[in-house]
This record gives sequence, structure tokens and C-alpha cells, in this order.
Amino acid sequence: MALFGKDKKKSDIPQIVPRHVAIIMDGNGRWAKRRGLPRTAGHAAGAETFRRVASICREWGVEYLTVYAFSTENWKRPAEEVSAIMELLRKYLLEAIAEMEKEKIRIVFFGDLSPLPAELRQLAEETVERSAKYGPCQVNICLNYGGRDELLRAARAFAADCAAGKRTPEELSETVFSNYLFSAGIPDPDLLIRPGGEERISNFLLWQAAYAEFYFSDVNWPDFDREELRKAFAAYALRQRRYGGV
Ligand code: FPP
Repeated sequence: MALFGKDKKKSDIPQIVPRHVAIIMDGNGRWAKRRGLPRTAGHAAGAETFRRVASICREWGVEYLTVYAFSTENWKRPAEEVSAIMELLRKYLLEAIAEMEKEKIRIVFFGDLSPLPAELRQLAEETVERSAKYGPCQVNICLNYGGRDELLRAARAFAADCAAGKRTPEELSETVFSNYLFSAGIPDPDLLIRPGGEERISNFLLWQAAYAEFYFSDVNWPDFDREELRKAFAAYALRQRRYGGV
């Protein structure tokens, strides 16, 4: 929804701000190709965009921002590209730790961090620990994450609890199941943004996005700026959410 009258002068905070925004940061490779640069340069620009967007979300009062940084399928990419993404994450986490006092953003990871390089895993754990006291803005970084993998892990953990006598199959409800996901305790995303021109979910938040509003943009992720985010929020403000009702 647009801003009106004197408020516009005071602040550029959109009037309707989704509580939880999820983003598939797509189009880094194409952004780079168009400029005759290596794909890794696109990821570096994408990491900068992520930092700016997280900061704007905090400023505008978004409570949860969930970004898809690396999927369970992304290991299929050339080794050089995989290590460039890991290096960018390392750099980001190091800087985030240094800047935490200023930004006060809580950082959490969704995904299985165990196959990651040991140094990156430790850095991720340290960032989570040190930022746990911050808020109200929380950034969930999906790393070695896949929606189907998350559902299988949850099903397996619930079955194991049943086998151990801690749960019974009859107890399984949507609420109980949700608590076995990486996103346990976090509200579902209200708005799911996919820049980069593709219109698909790519194994992202399959359970959680059940009632999310989708916003697709042709802008490649590295070019996704404040104005693009404002357009996405404006489109969201016009949606009528019925959750299956009338
Ligand atoms: C998709 O673009 C992007 C990725 C697979 C990687 C996203 C990673 C970052 C933005 C950098 C690190 C992240 C953080 C949180 C610091 P693509 O390569 O599929 O683009 P294309 O479809 O144009 O080839």
C-alpha cells in the first residue's frame, strides 16, 4: 500500500509490512553473464544484495527473513562455484559477527550443516549463539537446505520418537509436525519473493509456504534494491488472503 501525505516525508516505511518474508535469491549467474563476468562475481554481488535487503527488512519491521543461500541440489554445481559461495558465506558471517552490535539481527540456519567445511560450520554455530539475544528481526539462512529433505527428517524424527515411546502416531497434528521442522516455533512466510524471472518453488519451504503469497520479478537478485522490495510489499498489500475460506 502506498504512503500518503505527511508520512511520506517522514519515512519510507511501507504501511503494510509482511511479518515473515522468504526469498529465493535467483539470477546471480545470469546477472554476471550479461556483464561478461564469471558466475562467482554474480554470487558476490548477490551476497551484497542480501546484506542490504536484510538491513532494509530490519528497518521496515519485518520480523523474519528467510533466504535460500544453498540447496541440497546445489552441490551439483562446479566445485569452484560451490567453494566461492561457501567463501562468501564465511566472509558474511565474519562481518556479521563484527557488526552484530549495530544491526542486532538474530541469525539462524535451516539445513544440515554437517557436510560444510569445519571452519564455516563453527562460524555458523558461533554466529547463532552470539546473535541469539538479538531481535526482533531474525534472518534464517537456508544452507544445504531442501524442502523434501526437511520433511523426511521431520518424519524420521517423529517416527523415532514413536519407536522410543515418547509419541504416538495419533498425536500427529500439523502443529506437532511443524515442531519437527527447522522452522519450529517460527510463523509461516507471508510473502515469498523470487527474483530472476523463474516462477517455481525449487524445493524451498514446501510445508511452510502453503499459504504464502508469491511475488515473482524479472529483476536478477543482484539488482534487487529498496525500490524492488517496496514493489513486492505493495503487491502483497493488495492481496486478499483467504486461507481456503471465502
Ligand atoms: C541462485 O542464482 C543463487 C545461488 C544458488 C546462491 C545464492 C548465494 C548467495 C547470494 C551468496 C551467499 C549468501 C549469503 C547469505 C551471504 P543462480 O546461480 O542459480 O543464478 P542463475 O539462475 O542466473 O544461474
